[in-house]
Parts: sequence; structure tokens; C-alpha cells
Amino acid sequence: MRNITIETITEAVERALGEDIPARNRELLTALVRHIHDFAREVRVSHGELLQACEFLRRAGDISDEKRNEFILIADILGLEVLVDMLDHKVVDGESESTVLGPFYREQAPVLPTGADISQKSYPEQATVYVHGAVRDTDGRPIEGAVVDVWEDAPNGLYEQQDPEQPDYNLRGRFTSDAEGGYAFRALRPVPYPIPYDGAAGELLRYMGHHPWRPGHIHFKISKPGYQALITQIYDAETPYLDNDAVFAVKESLVGDFLPAPPELGTDFALTFDFILRPAA
Ligand SMILES: [Fe+2]
Repeated sequence: MRNITIETITEAVERALGEDIPARNRELLTALVRHIHDFAREVRVSHGELLQACEFLRRAGDISDEKRNEFILIADILGLEVLVDMLDHKVVDGESESTVLGPFYREQAPVLPTGADISQKSYPEQATVYVHGAVRDTDGRPIEGAVVDVWEDAPNGLYEQQDPEQPDYNLRGRFTSDAEGGYAFRALRPVPYPIPYDGAAGELLRYMGHHPWRPGHIHFKISKPGYQALITQIYDAETPYLDNDAVFAVKESLVGDFLPAPPELGTDFALTFDFILRPAA
């Protein structure tokens, strides 16, 4: 196609797609190009702005490595990760709601017995919590043998891989549900933390005029063969930022009450939270 115009450029790119590419490639690229072109036409992107955007992406790449993926943070800040998660995990049968995995998950967390403390350090200033509940299926039957993988930030707002002062795998653990579906562990009452804002994600937050903070939460990944794995977070009902989470991941069904614990638990608070898994597709 010659004599490309503002109106015909989109069709020209669509026609340039190879005949033999997979159907999904065609679907993704056709919609992507249409939306990007419409965006540029709608807001009249200038050449200077296009170069700024390209430089922004270059800086995001420069600061990324095996431990830090700036593009996940950017997707989070723009609400894209939580949108994709909701599209991928529509609630169909009363199962627990999912939310974003986030960038701080690590595989192979220590396997711990029921009720164990996930903290490998003493934090005398920080309130503690006994977290317990049951894992059930959508018919209400207990699920035995589910792996309950949990992780949280330390009182300084850092996950252990961000902080050389913390032991390896601090505040992480994997538990197994019992015959009644029960699980339990001891943890710290989670504190809010800012997502890393010293790189391109921080630039974007400032461009948006938004803060980097997330409400206090504990991450969960619950899995058992035969069931759809549940990746979610439980939020402290009293934490700030529930209504303006930097990554838009809070859902009402995931907010839990940290209640004063009975003395025999040995923690300051107790949190009861049940999870419902649905059968794998
Ligand atoms: Fe987190």
C-alpha cells in the first residue's frame, strides 16, 4: 500500500501481517495496532512525546534484572495486571477471589508445620497475628493436602529479597491443609509498603500524581492438583490505603478482621480466613 494516510495506516499494518502466523498472533496484533493508532490519533501524540515514551521504556529495561521486572510494576500501576487477573479468574461458582501475584513471590519457601511462625527474626516492636482457617471446595467439602504458600513484608516495608538484613526466605512459608482443610501459621501484622519507585515505575507514578503505597496484606498461593490454584492477598481491615492501593488489587471479599487473640495463641491478634477453591477446568 502506497500513499499511506492518517486514516489508512492502521489497515496497512494489518495487511502487512504474514498469512501463516498463528490466529492468536493476528488477533493480538490487529487489536493492539488498532488501539495504539486510535490512541495516537485521539490525543495527537507528538514526535517528542513518542521519543519520551521510548526513552522511558529503555530506562525501565535498564533497571530490570532477574530480581526486578520494572514492566510488571508499570502494568500494576496502570491497573493492567489486576484487569488481566480478573479476566483470567472470573468467579463462577463462589470460589475465593484472586488478585495479583505481585513481583515478590519466590518459589520453594520453607515447608513448615501447622501453626509455625514464618518470621525468622524477632521484631519485638511489631504486633503478631495467628492466621488460620479452612480450605474448601465449592460444595463446602474440606480440601486436605492443599499447599498454602504465604509471604509478607517485614516491618520496614521490605520483602526479604529486597533487604540484605533479612534471612533468606524470611516471612515466607508453605503449609499443608489437614483432613478438615485447616491451615494455621503465625506471622507479623503486615504493614503498608511503597512499591519500588526509584525507577521508571516511580517516574510514571509522579506523572500520574499518585503515591506508591500498598495497604498491609499477606499473600497467599493455594494449590492442589485437581483444583484451580488460587493466588490472592488478605488485607487488614484497619490498614491505610485500602481505598487507594497503588496497584488497584484490593477487593472487599479479601479484607479480614484482625481481632485480639485469646492468650493461648501467644500472638497479639488472630485472623480467621477461609478459602474456597474450584475444580480445575
Ligand atoms: Fe505484597
